[in-house]
Amino acid sequence: MNALDLSVNVDHVATLRNARGGGFPCPVEAARVSIASGAQGITVHLREDRRHIRDRDVERIRAEVDAPLNFEMAATEEIVAIAERLRPRACCIVPEKRAELTTEGGLDLLHPSAFLPAAIARLRAAGVRVSIFVEADPRQVEAAARLGANCIELHTGPYADAPAEARGPHLARLRAGAAAARAAGLLCHAGHGLAYDSVEDIARMPEVSEVSIGHFLVSQSVFEGLPATIARFRSLIDRARAGA
Ligand code: PXP
Repeated sequence: MNALDLSVNVDHVATLRNARGGGFPCPVEAARVSIASGAQGITVHLREDRRHIRDRDVERIRAEVDAPLNFEMAATEEIVAIAERLRPRACCIVPEKRAELTTEGGLDLLHPSAFLPAAIARLRAAGVRVSIFVEADPRQVEAAARLGANCIELHTGPYADAPAEARGPHLARLRAGAAAARAAGLLCHAGHGLAYDSVEDIARMPEVSEVSIGHFLVSQSVFEGLPATIARFRSLIDRARAGA
C-alpha cells in the first residue's frame, strides 16, 4: 500500500510550556525530536487566542525544522495573511470557536463563510496545499472539491471517542468519506482523537495518506518519552498498512 505519513501536532507541548510562562518544554525542540524519531511532518494550530502555539513558535518551526509543516487555521484575514507570509507546505482550515476546548467538528461546507472561497484561493496562489477539516460526509467532501481545496482531513473524533463496540458505524462513515475524497480527486488525511487503539483502523484505509495526532501522543510521551511514542505509532501504522 502507499505510504501513510504521521504528522505530529505539537500544540500541547506549548500548552505545557505556557502553564509556567517560561520556555520549557519547547515546541520547536519537540518538532525536531518528532522528525528525528520517525514522524514525517509537524502540525501546529495557531489559534486566534494564541492559547498554545504562538506566532514565534510557527516562525521558528518553519525556519528551523526540516519537515513539511501543516498549519491548522481558521479562515480569517489575520491568519490567512500569516500563512501567505510563512508559506507552510499545507494549511488545514478548521472551524474555530473561542470557548471550545478543541476543534469541535468539521467545517460546514454546505454553508461556507463568505470569506472561505477567497481564503482558499489566496492560500493556493501562495503555493500552499489547502486541506479542509470535514465530517465524514460525502456531501461535505464533494463541497470541498467544488470550493477548490486540494485535500480534506476527515474528522476521526466521533470514531476515536466511541467505545470499541460502537465504532463500526463511525468507521463505515469514515470509509465512505475517504472513498468520496478519492472519487473527487482530493488527497485524504485524517485526524482528531487518535490513539494507539484507534490508529490502525484508519491506517487500513488506502485513501488516507496522512494522520495528524497530537493530544494522546503528547500525553503518552509523559510516560514513554516522545521518541518511543512516535516509534510505537509508526509501527502500529506500518503493521496495519502492511495488512497484518
Ligand atoms: N486535526 C485537526 C483538524 C485538529 O483540530 C486536531 C486538534 O488540534 C487534530 C487533528 C489532532 O487532534 P488530537 O490532538 O486529538 O490528536
